Amino acid sequence: MRRYAASWLLMSSVLLATACADDSRDAGAPPVDPTYGLGRTPRPERLAAIDIDVDTTGHGLPAGSGTATQGAAVFAAQCASCHGARAEGVAPVPPLVGRTPAVGYDFANADRAPRTIGNYWPYATTVFDYVRRAMPLNTPGTLTANETYAVVAWLLHQNDIIAADAVLDATTLPAIRMPARGIFVPDDRQRGGPTFR
Ligand code: HEC
Repeated sequence: MRRYAASWLLMSSVLLATACADDSRDAGAPPVDPTYGLGRTPRPERLAAIDIDVDTTGHGLPAGSGTATQGAAVFAAQCASCHGARAEGVAPVPPLVGRTPAVGYDFANADRAPRTIGNYWPYATTVFDYVRRAMPLNTPGTLTANETYAVVAWLLHQNDIIAADAVLDATTLPAIRMPARGIFVPDDRQRGGPTFR
């Protein structure tokens, strides 16, 4: 028992020391806690590197642009190995293409209908956000702004949402109305909203 306690103590001290260690990239910045001299205010450029969220209105979109034609090359080189050459999905990696135009997303048969960019994503801006922060799965954060615009354009074109030569940028991307925009409703059941609609 005592041996476990000792190793637990050792492990906790190592964890604590690691947590308190200043990140050398912020060396020289004033400490956050002047009493104990702990923590450094992150440098603006380090914050900027991780402050990349793009919201539904397009706020946060970077400068740059791309077309589906340019995106085809990005997809073939960086995405097709997992998602399939036409983004058809290779289990367990999900398909990115697929429309059910008449109904948008077929909730009644939800277990059979794969959720894709074409039938389930309500905003094009958040597709950009997701791809930029999370894909390629094994090297996220490596796509340039132009590559991200281009590969998102290719995905939207494959889903018959935009033309192959449409230029996506910080102005045109938020203006796209996704087929699934209307299928989501606010959940107001606790405030007396209907159970079914
Ligand atoms: C190493 C394999 C791999 C690579 C390479 C990869 N992906 Fe993915 N991708 C995945 C997996 C696995 C998921 C599902 C992740 C999850 O559900 O958490 C996913 C999910 C996605 C989704 C969300 C699908 C949805 O509707 O929920 C998008 C969009 C996407 N990938 C785009 C891309 C793009 C664009 C590229 C290339 C720039 C790329 N992926 C490269 C494995 C990969």
